[in-house]
Amino acid sequence: MKIAILPGDGIGTEIVAEAVKVLKSLDLKFELEEAPVGGAAYDAHGHPLPDATLSLAKSADAILFGAVGDWKYDQLDRPLRPEQAILGLRKHLGLFANFRPAICYEQLTHASSLKPELVAGLDILIIRELTGDIYFGQPRGRRVAPDGHFPGAEEAFDTMRYSRPEIERIARVAFEAARKRHKRVTSVDKANVLETFQLWKDVVTEVHKDYPDVQLDHMYVDNAAMQLVKEPKKFDVIVTGNMFGDILSDEASMLTGSIGMLPSASLNDKKQGLYEPSHGSAPDIAGKGVANPLATILSAAMMLRFSLNQPEAADRIETAVKKVLAQGLRTPDIHSDGTTKVGTREMGEAVVNAL
Ligand code: IPM
Ligand code: MG
Repeated sequence: MKIAILPGDGIGTEIVAEAVKVLKSLDLKFELEEAPVGGAAYDAHGHPLPDATLSLAKSADAILFGAVGDWKYDQLDRPLRPEQAILGLRKHLGLFANFRPAICYEQLTHASSLKPELVAGLDILIIRELTGDIYFGQPRGRRVAPDGHFPGAEEAFDTMRYSRPEIERIARVAFEAARKRHKRVTSVDKANVLETFQLWKDVVTEVHKDYPDVQLDHMYVDNAAMQLVKEPKKFDVIVTGNMFGDILSDEASMLTGSIGMLPSASLNDKKQGLYEPSHGSAPDIAGKGVANPLATILSAAMMLRFSLNQPEAADRIETAVKKVLAQGLRTPDIHSDGTTKVGTREMGEAVVNAL
């Protein structure tokens, strides 16, 4: 089992170090190989996704990824910015299926900005298509406007597009996932305005015929954003495109009050996967030893389950995380009165001990 370790920037290095400790404490044999990515790779090699990092990622069974990005790279040309590393990995490895669970842990119900009764027991899975849509659609660029409201003015444009097979495969992923949960899929679109999402809705409806045991409904993205804060528990699996999924998954993660707790997985059709916390590089707290490593540790658990076929080890890690929460240990992001504040390293070590 070969795992590429790509810590990246900001708190990435600190949190990935704890997840690696957890992996090493299991009685399993892994080949772990580390490489720079993001701003760290730009500093060292002049590119956010150096060839050596990309080929390591391609040759691995799974990638454990920290986070990329820092304000200090905002002035660079777009192809050199840290974010291009994660976009490049998604594209070159074909990681089209992004799983973003939003789970409200029992002990953390009060960390949510919503009323506890709205989020207690919340367990939503957002499935975001990750290699298409306006993120990757061509053509895109800047030019002198040939027409429109201000012909001759400078303009910029991107292209939103989805093909039938791209929609079909992500719809299947969503229906399969729903079968293992509460058998409900909400497909989020903007079919009332956009051609792309009329096709989306049509194709999801067709694919649904193969999954009669799963309930499907359709929701416009604006309404979905509203329903997520109004009555989040009525969702089970949400499936949507790249752009809407980016936005809704941030919204959903915050319902749980603890973005520092949420893992994510991005898979291709060979079950090769990239595993990363749902949160970013948090440069404001980098190097202070206070970041919450649990999202990354839980991402390692997802990795064992989805890409490395080690479900028991995944269960053990998840149980260990619940145990340290029950012991009252909290990093500052999830700390409340009556609990014990710990740093990144203490939290990682507590998980190892619980294991
Ligand atoms: C995410 C992030 C990325 C995205 C950025 C860093 C390119 O926001 O994974 O949600 O927009 O997909
Ligand atoms: Mg995002």
